[in-house]
Amino acid sequence: MKINATITAVSHFVPKDKITNHDLEKLVDTNDEWIRSRTGISERRILKNGATSDLAIPAIKKIIEQKNLDPLEIDAIIVATVTPDMFFPSTACIIQQKIVAKNAIAFDLSAACSGFLYALVVGAQMIESGSRKKVLVIGADKMSSILDYKDRNTCILFGDGAGVVLLEPSPIENYGIIDHRLYSDGSGAEFLYMKGSGSLNPPTHETIDKGLHYLVQDGKAVFKEAVLGMANVSVEVMQRNNLTSETVDWLVPHQANLRIIDACAERMGIDKSKVMINIDRYGNTTAATIPICLSEWHEQGKIKKGQNLILSSFGAGYTWGAVYIKWSID
Ligand code: UT7
Repeated sequence: MKINATITAVSHFVPKDKITNHDLEKLVDTNDEWIRSRTGISERRILKNGATSDLAIPAIKKIIEQKNLDPLEIDAIIVATVTPDMFFPSTACIIQQKIVAKNAIAFDLSAACSGFLYALVVGAQMIESGSRKKVLVIGADKMSSILDYKDRNTCILFGDGAGVVLLEPSPIENYGIIDHRLYSDGSGAEFLYMKGSGSLNPPTHETIDKGLHYLVQDGKAVFKEAVLGMANVSVEVMQRNNLTSETVDWLVPHQANLRIIDACAERMGIDKSKVMINIDRYGNTTAATIPICLSEWHEQGKIKKGQNLILSSFGAGYTWGAVYIKWSID
């Protein structure tokens, strides 16, 4: 029998400090009305002290508690992030040490806003192959660490947060992660990037003066591709699995822009009541958006066992993809 991987626990953490649109009005030439109408964002969370691993740890601890899990049972930790604590060791290894998960292999994965979906698929394939039984998949980003709070094009968009799922073999046939399609297109590199700090532009006074250590985005170019990419891959996954707009119970989209989410749902024929949206409260938390949504909707008892979920994302690279899950938590 084919082993399916399934999500058996989900959790998230967002820091308590908020930056509202009105706060940003004091930093850059913007206004609440523009931000809300163009993006859907009202506020975002900011981690004042600490690193990306500190966002992930509280969420992981909740899972350990909920599941009464011995951290020594965890066999793999995958962290999707573009804001690792440091270049190396990986944030996953830092987390492994902090939770004393000595038997886990641990590594980071870089696929920006699609990082969680990429990591979910990699983790699922480890379970499906039979090589691992308990995999923590983490999407975590401290975006405030790479934002230029003088650039109104970008600083209004992003926030900090983390979401975590535990993957295990599904005890029920045909539940869990059923199908997925992932894509990459490196021609998108010129539209969303951070050129400094890496081996191309190691930090010097000059790179700092030029602000190369900040995220840069051509919003218009990314917007168009994001609508197309997310909608097309979501429809592809629906068609591959004979799902219709009626049989999809939840669309769980990456939260980059409410207008992108609406356009994607519309092209899929999915009613707005079936779309998870929290961009208003958190902005774009990059790899964390999708697991934060899953965690909040699960906490509120809104996702029922057996429901069909389409997770969908688009981000830097370009990278994009969609995952079909039959939810298996009671
Ligand atoms: O998660 C990774 C993937 N990222 C995305 O999916 C993001 C995709 N892009 C977007 O979400 C949108 O393109 C943005 C929200 C970034 C921008 O929205 P837009 O509707 O594409 O605006 P725009 O860049 O075309 O700018 C429209 C106008 C410009 O003024 P002019 O040239 O028309 O006079 C901008 O200078 O709005 C101006 N503008 C602002 N005004 C007030 C740009 N940023 C701001 C701002 N406040 N923060």
